[in-house]
Amino acid sequence: MSKRVRKVVFPVAGLGTRFLPATKASPKEMLPVVDKPLIQYAVEEAIEAGAEVMVFVTGRNKYAISNHFDTAYELESELEERGKDKLLAMVRDVVPSHVSCVFIRQSMPLGLGHAVLCAEPIVGDEPFAVILADDLIDDGGSGCLSQMVKAFADTGSSILGVERVAQEETDKYGIVDTEGDQQLLEVKGIVEKPKPEDAPSNLAVVGRYILTSEIFGQLAQTGRGAGGEIQLTDGIARLMEKQKVFAYQFKGKRYDCGSKLGYLMATVDYALQHPELKDDFQAWLKSRFC
Ligand code: G1P
Repeated sequence: MSKRVRKVVFPVAGLGTRFLPATKASPKEMLPVVDKPLIQYAVEEAIEAGAEVMVFVTGRNKYAISNHFDTAYELESELEERGKDKLLAMVRDVVPSHVSCVFIRQSMPLGLGHAVLCAEPIVGDEPFAVILADDLIDDGGSGCLSQMVKAFADTGSSILGVERVAQEETDKYGIVDTEGDQQLLEVKGIVEKPKPEDAPSNLAVVGRYILTSEIFGQLAQTGRGAGGEIQLTDGIARLMEKQKVFAYQFKGKRYDCGSKLGYLMATVDYALQHPELKDDFQAWLKSRFC
């Protein structure tokens, strides 16, 4: 089996109800953190990790995502005419020429596991990654997926990005059962959104996965689980009966941009790092709170 991760699946069919009305007609993955949509941060992380094929599993109202990763002829010629070279380069660089984008429709909202299964015809028989764009990870240099790709090159086994969360928050995540506290841990069990009193640990799966293609066969046989949906977590639990699965405690800070508070925190922290904004923004924050 190849240990290269060439393809990354982005499940983007969710309704984004937590951000209504902002997400009534446009996808939550297009919400910008400062000046870049969440999905672009995710794609940049995938490209940095060496991936070349971006597979978007989309739903209704998601045309903005395919438009974002397509050539914008009118915009480009307008910017060219006006001599706005820097902006032109920025728009053109959204997808480098060696990267291709594929869009598949998830015609029924049956859950994350089902969304990943929809990507099987494109992914085929090779290991692949999954990125959930609303988990934005500021890695301070070495992308979360890059870190996981290195670990995958060593193990050849599926790897889940994990971090510790407050015990009372276990019911928001897939939670893994492991022993020890090393960076790379063998997963003994995994459960979707357990109540704090039932959780095997407080080690939560965040939106980063590297999976072997055997997951597809398992997902195809996975019934509805938590929330009445076909859960990726349940497919992984089945996979673990056949293969080893590891959890990887990545380096970096995660923002839950699926929640308003996490999204605001990301916006503030990213603005404080933004070359054009940071000084003025910091001065304004100080004047506001000091
Ligand atoms: C999904 C997964 C869950 C994971 C989480 C990470 O849940 O089902 O296992 O921990 O993403 O963000 P969701 O946030 O879509 O409810």
